[in-house]
Amino acid sequence: MPERYPPIHPKCPHFLHGGDYNPDQWPEAVWAEDMRLMKLAHCNAMSVGIFAWARLEPAEGQFDFSWLDRIMDLLADNEAYAVLATPSGARPAWLSQTYPEVLRVRPDRGRNLHGVRHNHCFTSPVYREKTRLVSTKLAERYKDHPALLVWHMSNEYSGECHCDLCRDAFRAWLQNRYGTLDALNQAWWTTFWAHTYTDWSQLEPPSPIGERSVHGLNLSWKRFITDQTVDFMLHEMAPLRELTPDVPITTNFMGTYPGLNYWMIAPHLDVISWDSYPRWHGEQPDHELACSVAFVHDINRCLKGGKPFMLMESTPSMTNWMSVAKLKRPGMHRLSSLQAVAHGSDTVQYFQWRKSRGASEKFHGAVVDHVGTEDSRVFRDVAELGQCLEKLDDVVGTTVHPDVAVVYDWENAWAIDDAQGPRHEKGYLPTCQRHYRAFWKRGVPVDVIDMDQPLDGYKLVVAPMLYMVRPGVAERLEAFVEAGGTLVATYWSGIVDENDLCHLGGFPGPLRKLLGIWDEEIDALYPGDVNHIVPKDGNALGLCHEYEARELCALVHAESAHVLARYKSDFYAKRPALTVNEFGSGEAYYIASRNDDAFLHDFYAALATRLRLQRALIATLPEGISATLRTDGNRHFAFLMNFNSRPATIDLGPASYTDLLTGRTITGETVLHTYGVMVLAD
Ligand code: GLA
Ligand code: ZN
Repeated sequence: MPERYPPIHPKCPHFLHGGDYNPDQWPEAVWAEDMRLMKLAHCNAMSVGIFAWARLEPAEGQFDFSWLDRIMDLLADNEAYAVLATPSGARPAWLSQTYPEVLRVRPDRGRNLHGVRHNHCFTSPVYREKTRLVSTKLAERYKDHPALLVWHMSNEYSGECHCDLCRDAFRAWLQNRYGTLDALNQAWWTTFWAHTYTDWSQLEPPSPIGERSVHGLNLSWKRFITDQTVDFMLHEMAPLRELTPDVPITTNFMGTYPGLNYWMIAPHLDVISWDSYPRWHGEQPDHELACSVAFVHDINRCLKGGKPFMLMESTPSMTNWMSVAKLKRPGMHRLSSLQAVAHGSDTVQYFQWRKSRGASEKFHGAVVDHVGTEDSRVFRDVAELGQCLEKLDDVVGTTVHPDVAVVYDWENAWAIDDAQGPRHEKGYLPTCQRHYRAFWKRGVPVDVIDMDQPLDGYKLVVAPMLYMVRPGVAERLEAFVEAGGTLVATYWSGIVDENDLCHLGGFPGPLRKLLGIWDEEIDALYPGDVNHIVPKDGNALGLCHEYEARELCALVHAESAHVLARYKSDFYAKRPALTVNEFGSGEAYYIASRNDDAFLHDFYAALATRLRLQRALIATLPEGISATLRTDGNRHFAFLMNFNSRPATIDLGPASYTDLLTGRTITGETVLHTYGVMVLAD
């Protein structure tokens, strides 16, 4: 793991600042004004061509790059760079009309009409051929252009198609994965409800008008969708790899979008990017929301092992598709943008540069509003942020190597969501985020990884609700703990295998030995129900309060584990609620119930002290203040951020720092303004 990564492209050793730019929507007379405004906004990178297919190929086989040539030249002349997109996210009408097979088929097996975007078949040979052709033309034309910096594959790959081509590809995928129908029937437990398959041609993708009760099928379909999307992307990417081997490639992800397992896509990209649209100033307090956003930023940093990512899209003001499109309050633009940087982004980019005049995004936030000038609050916010980024060159390429990893796993999420029981809302993602929050509040950096990632280098691995345990995972967790690591697992772990078949022989299945418990049953509680857990006197973690347990309470037997807390009431009063198992040189904790935040706070505070977990700053962080770290292994950059709508005071102690944003020396009692940010260099 390098201490410091090179910039995204060696051409530009600075933060990228800019946004989705659609000059194709505007007359050429506007373009020179765009360039003038970009300079004023301190922008240096524009994402172009994202939905421009109809302008690039107005009729089949007739390409027109003249307008894009001029845009690329204008960017280069103005010392700006292009994040150049392949246009497959939306296609020209002639393409759907001539080749209806490119139109996506819904799960109910109806074929869509032409319209909107992100609605093509990923398998269609015609669509693949057409996207490959336009990618080839783009790469041939711009491969040596000085403005070309990064390739932006398509836009937000998503969704699924249920056409016959996709169904056939799915059958082939299943044959390849399972080999024989016997193996498939076994893995999917198809004797249930007489669902045994006797011919491959009987297999259909899950559908609301057909099969949806075989979990192995549902899981396979989701895996197939990811693989087929990757396959499509690689097809579209091949000419770029061949013609521009030195130009990095990305595609914009959507946070924890459940439709694709981003861990399977990441290895095919050079740099990760994502589109972040939090609901600031909404029903959830900003400081709680900030923590959930931080969690997703950390996933994106981890998708390539700590390599800085790109914030490809964010709104400079409001997001028009939200039920309430609230404006970002003064200061929030700067704060939310620098929060991405604080967690490892080397860019701040927007949707969109210039607000559309018509159609469904005409009211979406943009740097340049319909007024068309620099004289707007939002424009000034963006320009101010651009100036901040220009002061942070030393931060480009830096990263963090946390002591703690929280496991959030897509396949596990799929399997948990599909299961009927022990309650409808099982809350896997919010549970992972609640555990994460205990560290966020203390300024302890955290990686967020899936269950297949290497664990060496961590002191603590927290794997909430590890319902699915795929082959090899238990062995790696055992090796980690044996070598001195600490594992925290919870209720509803070790229940199913990689095919969504229950582990036999006692839960938590393959984790039973490591955790030293047998999890016999799980009780689901109604929303008003509450139990409590009572720490044992003199427990090694120093826990001394009762805590609330709600929603899910596992009934466990301590085998080799020691009991640290017990349930207070109900028929399982006095049964173990928190255990620890010594295993090799390490320890494995089991939290048997869904406990309140006070428990998570105290429990992880005790572990943080015991394990001496690295912190961004040695300071007690008041509520709503977050501190993160980026380092090149030599210099440390602590980002101190106030997500409260009021100023906050923090005591930084005797150490002295320079705030890179203001150049001021900072020490001792320090006031952070409302939504204030400091970048403290040592
Ligand atoms: C997504 C898309 C953009 C735009 C924004 C609006 O992230 O990628 O094209 O539609 O949403 O928020
Ligand atoms: Zn299809």
